[in-house]
Amino acid sequence: MNDKNVFKEDKLNYAKSSFLKIINSLDNSDQIKQFNEFVNNYLAKEIEDIDDFSKNNAILEEIKDKLRNKLSITAEAPNENIIIPETTDYEGYTKETTVNVDAFLYSDKDVEELGLNGQLKNYYCTDCGSKNVESLNFISHSASILQLRYIFEHVLNGIKINDKIVLDIGSRLGGVLYVGYLFSSARKLIGIELNQFFANLQREIIQEYNMSDRLEIIQDDIMNHPQLLQTADIIIMNNVFQFFHSIPIQQAIWSFMRANTKPSTLIITCPDLKEQLVDANCTNIDFDKWVKEIKLKIPYKKSQLTEDDWEDLKLIYLYEVL
Ligand SMILES: C[S@@+](CC[C@H](N)C(=O)[O-])C[C@H]1O[C@@H](n2cnc3c(N)ncnc32)[C@H](O)[C@@H]1O
Repeated sequence: MNDKNVFKEDKLNYAKSSFLKIINSLDNSDQIKQFNEFVNNYLAKEIEDIDDFSKNNAILEEIKDKLRNKLSITAEAPNENIIIPETTDYEGYTKETTVNVDAFLYSDKDVEELGLNGQLKNYYCTDCGSKNVESLNFISHSASILQLRYIFEHVLNGIKINDKIVLDIGSRLGGVLYVGYLFSSARKLIGIELNQFFANLQREIIQEYNMSDRLEIIQDDIMNHPQLLQTADIIIMNNVFQFFHSIPIQQAIWSFMRANTKPSTLIITCPDLKEQLVDANCTNIDFDKWVKEIKLKIPYKKSQLTEDDWEDLKLIYLYEVL
């Protein structure tokens, strides 16, 4: 038995002996019967939650597999025009040296395996034919499952979410929506997606998994739906405009967002909203008058995560509209 198992076994033995102590501390058979009823009810609920959790995990895995089979590894839509931003974060990234691998569909471990069995190149040759190679740059246009679970299970944990409407701007494959549906009790989750191909794909999944009671997809530009921003209690934006629009269009969308979000709406962004406004050169938007940042604390120990996973969680920010 390894150390971890010895530790687990110790905990179980400790729980058993504590339980016996509690039983022995009771005065009579009546108290024992009442305690029995309490324990049975409590454990039945706990076991139901554990079963729901495993069932929802299995559904999410199934959805991921379905999407993997429908898409190429890059998970781009046919004729999709992705623009690599000209910011310092993406210095040296070009169409030739950058690969899009979707983090919702493929974890870092999956990417490693794809590289090892030759389905994905990790390097490019700087002068063809030689061994002079450089690592490729990997980017993802979806949030990872770890980031999504962190959002719904921790960032939004203290909020009474069952009466809230969540809006994901640029919902793409629908990852935010499926995780929100399976791992939160949000009243409604709406995804708006510009790209017809992705909107159809999400609708197919929602129909197949009977999720339309709480999920809805709108295929359009967010700029045509100011009332959606008014209805939403929580808005999620995962680097939604930078790779898809020129700087002047990004500026117009951010001005629209600034003008139409209502006070007390929560906004979750990845990365930092301030940085996104600076990158798009939105000098007309006074960040401090628009939103207040609510500081987040990652609930895991650094040693429990890989360096990359830790960095991915640090990219998530929460704001409240003033
Ligand atoms: C980075 S992806 C975000 C994916 C998803 N929300 C997630 O976190 O996994 C951004 C998506 O936003 C869409 N998009 C870009 N501009 C948009 C707009 N003005 N209105 C609606 N969708 C937009 C793009 O087509 C793209 O699929």
